[in-house]
Amino acid sequence: MAAIEYKLLHVDKQTGARLGEVKTLHGTFQTPIFMPVGTQATVKTMSPEDLEKVGAQIILANNYHLWLRPGQEIVKEAGGLHKFMNWNHPILTDSGGFQAFSLTDNVKFNEEGISFKNHLSGKPMFLSPEKAIEVENDLGADIIMSLDMLTDFHSDYAEMQKAVNRTTRWAERGLKAHQNPDTQALFGIVQGGGYEDLRKQSARDLVSLDFPGYSIGGLSVGETKEEMNQVLDYTVPELPEDKPRYLMGVGTPDALIDGVIRGVDMFDCVLPTRIARNGTVMTSKGRLVIKNAAYARDFGPMDDNCDCYACRNYSRAYIRHLLKAKESFGIHLTSYHNLYFLLDLMKQVREAIKNDRLADFRAEFFENYG
Ligand code: GUN
Ligand code: ZN
Repeated sequence: MAAIEYKLLHVDKQTGARLGEVKTLHGTFQTPIFMPVGTQATVKTMSPEDLEKVGAQIILANNYHLWLRPGQEIVKEAGGLHKFMNWNHPILTDSGGFQAFSLTDNVKFNEEGISFKNHLSGKPMFLSPEKAIEVENDLGADIIMSLDMLTDFHSDYAEMQKAVNRTTRWAERGLKAHQNPDTQALFGIVQGGGYEDLRKQSARDLVSLDFPGYSIGGLSVGETKEEMNQVLDYTVPELPEDKPRYLMGVGTPDALIDGVIRGVDMFDCVLPTRIARNGTVMTSKGRLVIKNAAYARDFGPMDDNCDCYACRNYSRAYIRHLLKAKESFGIHLTSYHNLYFLLDLMKQVREAIKNDRLADFRAEFFENYG
């Protein structure tokens, strides 16, 4: 049996967006889906029970961080990531290429892999495509990523071409090294920046290797919205219809909806939890900086239109006070709400696709969100 099964349930008549589901050994999730990020085997401030309550169906963890600490042997000894963190639903791990690229000094890429300094100990480290898969095999997530090579979105053509071709060779090496194809689905990652021919070539080369799913990487790294949408417009049609498509690192409401409209099924981003810790919440009327003095005596909820536990029970004034006093319950409440907000948005998006009205839904949503 394959590790995952994707089922396409309906295509929205207004936009072509896909409603589907992905079956894994730890349960089925509905697509399009947003995946909360639990970098270090925890979604910051959220218990697994909280995650279920906000509607999370699959979460993401990072190979890079867990390899460095506590180390994959300990997670394996615990019985894998699901047991270790007490999350008995689907998990996806990112390979670590992006994290090494964005977190550490002195990163050097060569054909063999990525050399960098451990951001915790300063020790030199080396991550090869085989090593990334070995660690992901030990962690045991349902969906895993091959090691990819990143370069700036606006790199010149020759450099981007090199990164794309290397990413394909690394994907092939990862496929060969993968020990658990029956229980863990390995995705290849499409790169190519804003070069149409390189994106198409990257997608075609990976598709010829026949992965159970495909990621689109190298986006949300400083390019404009229009540039991202253009890349999706010419990249997604290269991907097979019977496999899930995952847009990495994207989590603003507009990028989610515009990605879904272009045929993307899965998304992840630290945005909702990161801005929550800075005191910013997403509401049906746009972002709100709850720390602002304007909310000191505002006894209404974070979002009038939200049914979440935090909005049903606590006021802006109280949450602002907790954040000002650096009480951890404050960032729990903002994180809880932001995740609920995005997961609920995706639920509404799925409902709109089912009813062939995603374009109408998009217009209605942005009339208020502004
Ligand atoms: N997370 C966000 N973007 C990327 C990407 O391009 N590659 C990987 N591996 N992870 C990402
Ligand atoms: Zn809420």
